[in-house]
Amino acid sequence: MKLDSTVAIVDLYRRLGGEKYSEAISQTEHAVQCAWLAEKEGAASHLVLAALLHDIGHLVDLEMHDGRIVLDHDTRHEATGGNCLSGIYPARVRNPIVLHVEAKRWLCARRDGYMDGLSPASVHSLGLQGGPMSGPEADRFESMPGFADAIALRLWDDLGKDGTRGGDIDDLENLLLRHSAAVTTG
Ligand SMILES: [Fe+2]
Repeated sequence: MKLDSTVAIVDLYRRLGGEKYSEAISQTEHAVQCAWLAEKEGAASHLVLAALLHDIGHLVDLEMHDGRIVLDHDTRHEATGGNCLSGIYPARVRNPIVLHVEAKRWLCARRDGYMDGLSPASVHSLGLQGGPMSGPEADRFESMPGFADAIALRLWDDLGKDGTRGGDIDDLENLLLRHSAAVTTG
């Protein structure tokens, strides 16, 4: 499934963004909170958009599975997310989205204590996603051009789960339109 406009993105979140990301928050709240964290750190617009849309693959998966959440295997939502946005955004927006699961695997391998802070859901999905990277995998990942953006996105992903902060569809639309205008397609 490919999305062809920011209108289609907002429409997808309007329909399915109310689905739970966790017990505490919805997909829309998680998306908005991650983008707010990126803005707070002064991230460039392409990276704020990546933070906002990094889990859009979960919504596409829900749409494809009639609203059922798939928990027993890895749906590769990061690849689905990057792919569904390929007609709208350039690679610098899509790459951190595609790499945010690998970034988790890298952080588990190379950052002391990182794994201890993961939510139970993240630990569960880590197992399905291949577990922490091996040494050679981690070395290779670090040498990729998109490494820094992918790690930055992953750390916001881990923090954007605050049940008291909110974030609604209007916030999502505002962030999306403002930062999309600053990112040229190509
Ligand atoms: Fe996320």
